[in-house]
Amino acid sequence: GEPLVIAIDGPSGSGKSSVSRAVAARLGLAYLDTGAMYRAATVWCTRRGTDLSDADVVTADVAAMPLEMGVDPAAPSVTLDGEDVSAEIRATEVSAAVSRVATNLEVRAELKLRQRAAIDAERDGGFSGGRGILAEGRDITTVVAPDADVRILLTASEDARLRRRSLDVHGVADDAAVAATRDQVIRRDRDDSTVSQFVEAADGVITLDSSELSFEETVEAVLLIVSETT
Ligand code: C5P
Repeated sequence: GEPLVIAIDGPSGSGKSSVSRAVAARLGLAYLDTGAMYRAATVWCTRRGTDLSDADVVTADVAAMPLEMGVDPAAPSVTLDGEDVSAEIRATEVSAAVSRVATNLEVRAELKLRQRAAIDAERDGGFSGGRGILAEGRDITTVVAPDADVRILLTASEDARLRRRSLDVHGVADDAAVAATRDQVIRRDRDDSTVSQFVEAADGVITLDSSELSFEETVEAVLLIVSETT
């Protein structure tokens, strides 16, 4: 049939990335992690010694950024100037700085163009042989792909999000690990909240609350929404 485009947005700790990868793999779709693109932009500017508060230089750096996104959901990769930076973009310092780059509206316009190009390439063939693509982030349902066939906002309670982040980062979710995670997650939520199109479901976007669902249940719930909408 026609190539399928699925857009999934959600805050950090909603399980959006792991759920999205699993759904893309199950449906044979390409997978685009747009948060990884903002993280790569942050690494690129930092490596060049750019002051992240200099919006014009950040904009110029990102416009010239040699970024390649590997969209195989079994092995997504991020390559910057020929070097695999998939691990480096997850560093704590990058998580702490990424909102400064992501709130730059010219950076957003540039990355939106690249994200649209990746979606169009998958519509025409690309990795998935034309089956389609699942793109996930914060503004995919609203700004990047408001025309997607399926649009989902994946939410979770603050408690659930902190528990999951803590498991991701520390491998445990006891009180001490959750407390250590809390500051970081809440700070990034606040920093990101200046980008207006985040976290509220636009018209036609289906909200899925994963607070009480296991990983596998969340994947099944997304697959059900996809089969009911398409
Ligand atoms: O999803 P992840 O936590 O990797 O996203 C990292 C950061 O990238 C977010 O905190 C946000 O600042 C930015 N981002 C964005 N728009 C997107 C995806 C991510 O601004 N579509």
